[in-house]
Amino acid sequence: MRSLEFKGRDIVSIEDFSREEINYILNISKSMEQLASQGSNMLKGKILATLFFEPSTRTRLSFEAAMLKLGGAAIGFAEAEVTSVRKGENLADTIRAVENYADVIALRHPLDGAAKLAAEFSKVPILNAGSGSEEHPTQALMDLYTIQKEKGRIDGLKIALVGDLRYGRTVHSLAYALSLYNIELYLISPESLKMRKEVIHSVEKKISVFEGTNLEDVIPQVDVLYVTRIQKERFPDAAEYAKVKGTYKVDLKLLKNAKTDMIILHPLPRVDEISAEVDSAPQARYFQQVRNGLVVRMALLALVLGAVK
Ligand code: NCD
Repeated sequence: MRSLEFKGRDIVSIEDFSREEINYILNISKSMEQLASQGSNMLKGKILATLFFEPSTRTRLSFEAAMLKLGGAAIGFAEAEVTSVRKGENLADTIRAVENYADVIALRHPLDGAAKLAAEFSKVPILNAGSGSEEHPTQALMDLYTIQKEKGRIDGLKIALVGDLRYGRTVHSLAYALSLYNIELYLISPESLKMRKEVIHSVEKKISVFEGTNLEDVIPQVDVLYVTRIQKERFPDAAEYAKVKGTYKVDLKLLKNAKTDMIILHPLPRVDEISAEVDSAPQARYFQQVRNGLVVRMALLALVLGAVK
């Protein structure tokens, strides 16, 4: 078994982490709840650089807020058009410049493999804040934290991932992570947006996986409903997007058949896949999930910078 050493580590793929390590991160996240309200000087003098080559609201702001809550500072950009990338600089060179100013880098990039490449060049830890449609490991950790906090456990649950399982990066990382627990996974998507083959192959070796297209069929059984946005920007063809747009809609009518203690999660942003009327339903947890992102990212920064062991 790998030792629980986080200092200096990259967080590129959730597959690099064992169940023991993930549980450890979740425990440290819990201990950050108090610091999230009080603030701390744990990372005083440390700098986080957020390099976001793709749109973001929550991920970037929560990384920056997490750093500030721990007494550190944050620099970065949210718009590659204003940087030297516009002059033709490649990612490897950008990383080799930024590592001179920052102790840790959070990177979001439209290309699969970008975080891995950055980690190969960087002397400071790379936190993958979304690499193309491939992975979004820190989102998966906050999803697990939310499930654990709201349901009291992860083992034994029936969990449905719904929507764009092909281009959605959050569901790839989450499926890998959930396969380390004793759960049943339901994958609900349009035929053309089924879960990527490499993810299915890895996950179904460890847990039972059911694939389907009909949400109504699984609603009565599941404990966690994880809804995702159809990733319009990743479709190679607008006509293909038009065919699947609006396939699923979680509304109060659908919830009539759900368990009363089921919880609904969504990485956000949502478009039309969860109606606004659901926001006040007892099952809605997607805004609590946002708050949990703050403590999980505080924990990750503290761990990779060696401030907590
Ligand atoms: C997600 C992303 O960027 O992958 N957003 C997020 O980080 N919370 C999901 C999405 O864009 O649909």
